[in-house]
Amino acid sequence: MSRVAYVNGRYLPHREASVHVEDRGFQFADGVYEVIAVKNGSFVDEAPHLARLRRSLGEMRMTAPMSDAALKSVMRETVRRNRVKDGILYLQVTRGSAPRDFAFPKGAKPSLIMTARAQKPLDPRIFSEGVAVVTLPDIRWARPDIKSVALLPNALAKQRAKEAGAYEAWQVDRDGNVTEGTSSNAWIVTAKNEIVTRKADNAILNGVTRQMLLKLSAEAGLKMSERPFSVAEAKDAREAFLTSTTNFVVPIVRIDDAKVGEGRPGPLAQRLRALYAAHAASDAAGNAP
Ligand code: PDD
Repeated sequence: MSRVAYVNGRYLPHREASVHVEDRGFQFADGVYEVIAVKNGSFVDEAPHLARLRRSLGEMRMTAPMSDAALKSVMRETVRRNRVKDGILYLQVTRGSAPRDFAFPKGAKPSLIMTARAQKPLDPRIFSEGVAVVTLPDIRWARPDIKSVALLPNALAKQRAKEAGAYEAWQVDRDGNVTEGTSSNAWIVTAKNEIVTRKADNAILNGVTRQMLLKLSAEAGLKMSERPFSVAEAKDAREAFLTSTTNFVVPIVRIDDAKVGEGRPGPLAQRLRALYAAHAASDAAGNAP
């Protein structure tokens, strides 16, 4: 089946879809994006993803390419044309195409690109055995809270993780505290069964999975704390896990050379994964196109 991409008002065969060489996304990474999970043909947590897109656009002083209602209809059409049942929708907005100049162009129209693709379920061993992460200095700019397409440090760190045989890299700030993964948020569970994740300051992306999990955990009466944690505290933690749209909740059993807890996925990570999976299924069901 041939894939279709939406580019600035047109649905094009994926292999022919392109943007202009002077698109500011290409020239300056002057754009923002969202990745939204598709489950049974419907979106998971569509509203918070669109709210975060609005926020990213606002922080970049960019205009939205269209209304939320229009965006939603293009999102559905992109999923439909690609016949995606379970997978992801990728949405990118850039400041548009204009002669190369650092300052904002006058009157450029934002570019809007969407793609969708099916995704096979993750290898079940990821959940039954857990994964490893490596820690690396966080070399990103000061605003990772904006979901910008400037992902070079993330790509470099992910490559380092891959070469080390790890699933993800946890980025570490100058104080020795973990900020987040390259494409996921970072969590630990302390000896007192307190679930800890960094507060959503400018140093991390406020993950939609993170936001939902905080809400679901509070509803389930679990002890939560939004505060920084160090690499040393993480290595000493009872459990560790990561969250993202594409992974939901994945248990971490090794950080660098240190075994986390017993070196097996912990009960809280598994419980949170089940809570989030149930939420995702019901949210998608209530969101049918
Ligand atoms: N990444 N932190 C970073 C740096 C991310 O890129 C992501 C998401 C997250 C988790 O956010 P959410 O729960 O909203 O997916 C945290 C997406 C999946 C990506 O770039 O593919």
